[in-house]
Amino acid sequence: MARVTRSYICQSCGAETRQFFGRCPSCGSWNALVEQAAPAADTRRRRPVPTPGAATVPAAARRSEPIQAVGERPLQRLCSGYGELDRVLGGGLVPGSLVLLGGDPGIGKSTLLLQSAQAMAGRHSVLYVSAEESAQQVKLRWRRLAEQQPAAPPPATAPIDRPVPGPGLQLLSETDLELVLQELEALRPAVAVIDSIQALHDADLGSAPGSVAQVRECAAALARIAKRQDTALLLVGHVTKEGMLAGPKVLEHLVDAVLTFEGDRFASHRLLRAVKNRFGATHELGVFEMRGQGLAEVLNPSELFLGGDAPSAGTATIVACEGTRPLVVELQALVSTTSYASPRRTATGIGTNRLHQILAVLEKHLGLPLSRFDCYLAVAGGLEVEEPAADLGVAAAVVASYRDLTLPPGTVLIGELGLGGQLRPVAQLELRLQEAARLKARRAVVPKGSGLSKGVAGLEIFECSTVAEAMVRALGAGASIHERDP
Ligand code: TYD
Ligand code: MG
Repeated sequence: MARVTRSYICQSCGAETRQFFGRCPSCGSWNALVEQAAPAADTRRRRPVPTPGAATVPAAARRSEPIQAVGERPLQRLCSGYGELDRVLGGGLVPGSLVLLGGDPGIGKSTLLLQSAQAMAGRHSVLYVSAEESAQQVKLRWRRLAEQQPAAPPPATAPIDRPVPGPGLQLLSETDLELVLQELEALRPAVAVIDSIQALHDADLGSAPGSVAQVRECAAALARIAKRQDTALLLVGHVTKEGMLAGPKVLEHLVDAVLTFEGDRFASHRLLRAVKNRFGATHELGVFEMRGQGLAEVLNPSELFLGGDAPSAGTATIVACEGTRPLVVELQALVSTTSYASPRRTATGIGTNRLHQILAVLEKHLGLPLSRFDCYLAVAGGLEVEEPAADLGVAAAVVASYRDLTLPPGTVLIGELGLGGQLRPVAQLELRLQEAARLKARRAVVPKGSGLSKGVAGLEIFECSTVAEAMVRALGAGASIHERDP
């Protein structure tokens, strides 16, 4: 007699237990376990195990082959219609691949994929499955977007097929997985967009749409059909309050690429990043701007993150690197006498711990009494700068604000700060300097020993080994006065 087994699945991490717990034993989230009906029957095919001494396995049963003999197919890529999206995908969509696009609600995931679907529809057959919005809603948005004019000329490196009205875009407003699969099989499109995977529903499973079991099964069924008929699938995934992609981790393992679409709700630019990519590099960055008529590519993002023309006290310019893309970014610091027992330190766009560390280094090695001052730091344009190469820029902005000094126009600072006050070399220095020179920078303060073989045209480069030396180079002799206890 078949044993009735019950299992409970954690909705946040996907862990499976035989017993109900209020708190998931695996990830610790509360009230996340949901009962799941046992599968109807064990459908796994068992193969007879050959007994020792029996005849050898017939040659036809062998499926492996020497790696040298494996035929090579050149990786074909479909142009997604947007150079920025292609860049993040590693050069375009790969047929038969699954791409998961995650992001906060309202950030523009549906807009991006509808625009891209429309752009691809001129060349390939494209199916847009809207499981969240009605066909009427999608049509309204499509009409608005179709009126959009090309925002900027396409970049010289990646040819773009621009949105052209074409009959290739098919729309299906459906939440039932079975019907979506049938449509995919009937249409065999080159590209299909599923918006969103959490809204799809497999009637054979007892659980609610969006639950771990549903998401996993729907994605697996879609993946099978995509691989079988070489359809490139773009899945929209929701993000939880904590910023994680909702649904089990298994979804991230199942897909070939995970992209995140992020941005400041109050700023119009949106950043697209690859968190995982089986067909290209991760950490590549695509930049878009949300306009009244949809998303437009930003081909020259450094201009977005630069402040005004007139330099002011407490601002410094750095060159951050996102993947292989250098970004010239402006930092602003405000240092003012504290009226609290412990001074306030607030940083937007840079980790507060990093700011604390830089302030401690400045206090120790430049003798600035910063523990009596509040310090606020902001990255212009709402960009998150994680890499330590921004340290020197933060230090210069803080010192400039403290001393009420203005950095000479066209100065960029690149370098990591060691706890001993020394400057550490950073990666891709030459690339950063070229971007700075392109944006009319004239002076660059960089760490010594970065292996810079030749200069960069139009740029005066100062190589420094300590933060004190760098501050003098950047701000003049006035920056170096040691005043531990005035
Ligand atoms: P949407 O693509 O629906 O977001 P998501 O699918 O990630 O939830 O984007 C919705 C937001 O984008 C909405 O707040 C309005 C804004 N928007 C524009 O500013 N311009 C436009 O042309 C469109 C279509 C949307
Ligand atoms: Mg949406």
